[in-house]
Parts: sequence; C-alpha cells; structure tokens
Amino acid sequence: MIVEVILFFLGGVAALLALIYAAVFVKWKKREVVTFDPDYEKIRAKNYPPPYPNGWFSLCSSDSVKKGQVIEVDAFGQKFAVFRGENGEVGVIDAYCPHLNANLAHGCVRGNNVVCPFHGWEFNTKGQCAKVPYADKVPQNNQAEQWIVKENWGLILVWHHSEKKEPHWTTDGQLTQVKDYRYYGKKSDILRIHLQDFAENGADFAHFNFVHNLLTIPFADRFIHIKHTVNIQFGEGEVKHTASFTDRADLVWKSNGKEIPRAGGNAVVTFYGPGFLVFNFTTEMGKMLLIKTFTPMGELKVKMEDYVYAPRSTSRWAVKYLLREASSQFHDDVTIWERKKFAIKPLLVKGDGPIMKMRLWYSQFYSEHSAYARRVALEEAGELKMEPVNLS
Ligand code: FES
Ligand SMILES: [Fe+2]
Repeated sequence: MIVEVILFFLGGVAALLALIYAAVFVKWKKREVVTFDPDYEKIRAKNYPPPYPNGWFSLCSSDSVKKGQVIEVDAFGQKFAVFRGENGEVGVIDAYCPHLNANLAHGCVRGNNVVCPFHGWEFNTKGQCAKVPYADKVPQNNQAEQWIVKENWGLILVWHHSEKKEPHWTTDGQLTQVKDYRYYGKKSDILRIHLQDFAENGADFAHFNFVHNLLTIPFADRFIHIKHTVNIQFGEGEVKHTASFTDRADLVWKSNGKEIPRAGGNAVVTFYGPGFLVFNFTTEMGKMLLIKTFTPMGELKVKMEDYVYAPRSTSRWAVKYLLREASSQFHDDVTIWERKKFAIKPLLVKGDGPIMKMRLWYSQFYSEHSAYARRVALEEAGELKMEPVNLS
C-alpha cells in the first residue's frame, strides 16, 4: 500500500513537472508580421464574399467602457462612439457629429449623454440630440442611425444587418457557465483576412492532419504527431445561425503509429452567426473556454479578440499551456489565410470535408445590400470592375 502511495505521488509530481515544462518552454509561434501591398490586396479581395455579413458582432469588451467614458471603435467600414452613461447604459452611435462632423468619440460624457468636443451638442444613448448649449431648441430630425446594442458574455454587442432588419436570434441565455469560471484575460489582433475563411477552416477536414499535426513542445514534435478526427453539424430551424464543429485530437507515436493513452483532448467549437464562436476544450489537464470574436473592419480586415475562461478546478499552468497550443495552431492558419484568395469554384476531392455545405450555411448571413456594400467598398478602393459574387 505504501509503495502504491509513493508511486502515485511520484506519478503526480512527474505529471506536474511535465505540465510546467510544457507551459514554460513551449515554442509559442508568434504571428508573422506581413507587409501588405495595398494594390495586391485589392486583387486578393476580388472574389471574396461581401465583407460585412449580418449578425451580432462584438465592438469591444464591457470593461473597456467604464461609466462616464467614451471610446472610438472601428467596425463595418465606419467609426463609432461607444459610451457609458452614469446610469450604466451603453450608447453606440456614429462617431461623426451630425452638426459639423467632429468626432464624438473624442468628446466626453455628461450624465447619460455624450458631449461633442466641437460645439458641445449632447446626444443620448439612442443617438438623439438632447441639448444644444447655445440654442433653445434642438434640431428636428436629429435622430442618428439606431444601433441595437446589448451586453452579454462581458462584451458590447451590436446587431448589424445590411437591410436594417431586426435580430432574429439572440445571445441571451447562452454560456451561463462563464459567470462561475475564472477569467484569464483577452488578446486582440487585426488580421488581413475575410471572416468566412475562419468558418471554412472547420469544414476543411483535409488541412487538420497537414497544418495542425505537430505539438509546439520542443523535441516532442520529433517523436509525436497529432491525429485529428473532425466532424461538423449545421444548425436548422430556430438555431440555423449555429454550427458545431468537433475535433478529437489524439497524440500518436511517430515510430509505431500507436496512440498515447489519455494524452489527447477534445475541442467543441460552436459558431454563433458570423461574429463569434466558442471553443470548449476538454483534456486530462482540465477544461478551458475561449470566446473568439470576429468584427469586420473593412475589405480583408478583421479585428479578432480572444476571451479566455476556465473552471476554477483547472490549474493556471494547464490554461497557459492549452492557450499557447491553441494560439500556435491558430497562427499557422492565419499565415495561410492572410496570403490566400477565395476560390469560387474550388477543385475538391473526396476527403476534403463539407466546404460547399459550409458556404451554403454561411450564405444565410448575406443579403442583397451586403453585396452592394462590398461593391461600394471596392469602388472606393479604386477597384471599379467587379465580377459577380457567386456564393453557391
Ligand atoms: S460638430 Fe459636434 S457640436 Fe458642432
Ligand atoms: Fe486550421
């Protein structure tokens, strides 16, 4: 019995040391910084679908706008002033003041209104002019464009729809476990990609065992490779805006092809429309939850943010390792996405995964005006000749 206890203890110590080694020495592949040629970017953008799909999108984290604060946020090819009144309510309005177009994001908040830095006009959270300091009356027809805003999951979300249609799905009641989890912080990046490339990644089964087949732990990649078993399901009816991708990653000895027992893990990735997805990682080390947000800023320009959570029972070392592993794998994808074009008619073979089914699912997020918005974006960029966008 005593021998067993000692062995158990030594086994635990060895596992802990291995985890610390992995967390400290793991090669975290930093994203390669690429210099983009603006002329080539126009050519690269040409066949991609419209840049601004319809759905809920994160503008920023809730804690980045404190009471009495206003910040500037870029999204959907425009600038927003995002502010929080003394009553805690968030307002999202076009940053350019309707008076003489000063930037409201560089004003201040008074009470529950944002105050323009140029002549002191005040606007409420609905975008209505509430006060002109040197006039008795506020102008009529002063309603700025209305944005539907909500706060969920620690994020300030807006509903973007090219035809201004009301939301037909909600983020309410989802991810309730987050409030009991420990928050590990966020990471932000700007990627020169189209956000649909991320969705297609989940349906592109063939790339997993090619791009994501090695661990990032030094030396381990000489002896071990990762074997992915993947699957994707598309939501229907009321949840047709969701899709669920599962990836079982097993560690396999290169020498004999045998799986290492209890060394792999599961990732379940749920897409909530085009704007964000949630990774649930389950491994022997513990669980981790990652909310990844994608906010399109312009043609082939996307702001991506990661918000990391884990149950309190998962050790910090495990979170650190899992996060680094996930980031490294993601950076391998980004390196490819930032240099690719969009194949309207890809040359597919058996084993490629349901890429065209994914495109069909994703096409629900585009509408007539999305395509128009893309035309305008390209025309403004000096690319007047357009080829039709074929989503089928
Ligand atoms: S430009 Fe905003 S008050 Fe004049
Ligand atoms: Fe990938």
